[in-house]
Amino acid sequence: MNANPEKPVLISGNWKMNENHFEALRLVQELAALLHLPNGEKVLPDSVTVSVHPPFTSIRTVQTAIESDHVPVFLGAQNCHYIDKGAYTGEVSPDMLAKLGVQYVITGHSERREYFLETDEIVRKKTDAILRHGMHPILCVGETLEERNAGEAHKKVRTQLQAIFSGRSTEEALRVVVAYEPIWAIGTGMTATASDAEDMCAYIREEIGQLVGPEAADGIPIQYGGSANEQNSAELLSQKNINGLLVGGASLDAKKFVTICCSIR
Ligand code: 13P
Repeated sequence: MNANPEKPVLISGNWKMNENHFEALRLVQELAALLHLPNGEKVLPDSVTVSVHPPFTSIRTVQTAIESDHVPVFLGAQNCHYIDKGAYTGEVSPDMLAKLGVQYVITGHSERREYFLETDEIVRKKTDAILRHGMHPILCVGETLEERNAGEAHKKVRTQLQAIFSGRSTEEALRVVVAYEPIWAIGTGMTATASDAEDMCAYIREEIGQLVGPEAADGIPIQYGGSANEQNSAELLSQKNINGLLVGGASLDAKKFVTICCSIR
């Protein structure tokens, strides 16, 4: 399956609660070695942008390694608070992330919605805060298996999109990346079929058209996430409405992650 090598794609590695700062350093160094050929030739196709999302304690280490080794990946985070500073014990602010050079911040991941009770309202505040600090939110949406089996997948995704995109300008909407992550596919090895993923991503684009307008609908990047790996990435990326992947488990293995990043060739 050949994907279109011209189509811009964003491949993001969500490391979740893995990689202490020693392990994170090793992983970035492995990425650096794989992404720089000794003859200076570029490994990543021009149309591919890559971000890595370490846990908070490893972000500074990864930032330094990316800069010193000129690793062609952007720095990301997995979460942040929506307030800039104050008495919020244990939280990390978007301002702190922006100062570290973070460019992409995941919001509304199903693990945060489920285990940390993040509501659509909180996800909207976080999305606003990330945008205010000049970073890109990667907004996760997706349904459970029960919702899919009950025929309610589209309704669930529509509600999540409405909460974030209603009343938003085209300019702001175009700075958001949407990640369709069906919850039943996360960490289970059960990837959505490329056509199911494409169907929902096309629907997401349509809904954004309704909520914001045609320019936002055409331009917004939509990732797929959920057991994406080096075997299924090319087929997923060949779908018309899929502009990237949000990769969990497979992003912890430098070789597999680089194979995924290069799979549109
Ligand atoms: P897996 O790739 O491990 O299924 O995780 C997907 C995910 O949740 C990325 O945010």
